[in-house]
Amino acid sequence: MLTTSFFDHTFENPFMNASGVHCMTHEELDELAASKAGAFITKSATLESRAGNPEPRYFDVPLGSINSMGLPNKGLDYYLDYALSYQEKQTRPLFFSVAGMSVEENLEMLWVIQKSNFNGITELNLSCPNVPGKPQVAYDFPLTKTILTEVFQFFTKPLGVKLPPYFDMAHFDEMAEILNQFPLTYVNSINSIGNGLYIDPMTESVVIKPKDGFGGIGGEYVKPTALANVRAFYTRLNPSIKIIGTGGIRSGQDAFEHLLCGATMLQVGTELHKEGPAIFERLTAELTAIMDEKGYTSIDEFRGKLKTINV
Ligand code: FUM
Repeated sequence: MLTTSFFDHTFENPFMNASGVHCMTHEELDELAASKAGAFITKSATLESRAGNPEPRYFDVPLGSINSMGLPNKGLDYYLDYALSYQEKQTRPLFFSVAGMSVEENLEMLWVIQKSNFNGITELNLSCPNVPGKPQVAYDFPLTKTILTEVFQFFTKPLGVKLPPYFDMAHFDEMAEILNQFPLTYVNSINSIGNGLYIDPMTESVVIKPKDGFGGIGGEYVKPTALANVRAFYTRLNPSIKIIGTGGIRSGQDAFEHLLCGATMLQVGTELHKEGPAIFERLTAELTAIMDEKGYTSIDEFRGKLKTINV
């Protein structure tokens, strides 16, 4: 019932982890592989391993989470080794995330992936808000176009981009116009809402150390923004560019709303961090129950069919 076609593969269900959550080590990736998730993705890699920002750097808050991890990861080779060995044993493709510290680093990592035997799907993360001194790339429209132009001169494997949230119709239009010029497999909306601030009222203090407490906001707070971004890109992008919906998915109902807005796959971050990989069993059961109740037998029957008010 939840079967989802994406790229050239059929997944049992549309659920995945969001890159950054439960995907740093081979052990965590194995746990995702063994879970009920339809697919999974690695932590965004840099060329060399990174320790990331000082702790505390992730904090669960009542309506979601705040983080400033700073791209801690074990380096490109660590994840590529995993992906190459995983694809020997499994038929479903793994998603591989990269987030270079510079244009050159992104191009170099994509070269390595292009030349390797990796046959999965690569996600170019253009939206990490947490590296001090490094602005979120995809808020710079000309730079985004330049990077994609350079990437597609040599990269022929399936590629998606992870975007930050946009908040203005003009920005949806402008970014969609750029993305439509490239043979992207997908757009992933949204990364966390960057540089929020959460204050503990008891201690009168911020709750994470990096950047004096500023960090990316996820969870319930961000769902309306995530849905708007999914909808805005679904209605503006070439139909060949699929949408991965990320942001505020805590229940089958949240998943249903992302699908109604046009998402094909769904990523879960904050709530996966809270509940662990068993969440995928709960989400698939809840989404199935909603579809049963509404009489839908496949996601394709309602994907993208959000109604608007026209009277
Ligand atoms: O700080 C981090 O590692 C988060 C990365 C991201 O949100 O893309």
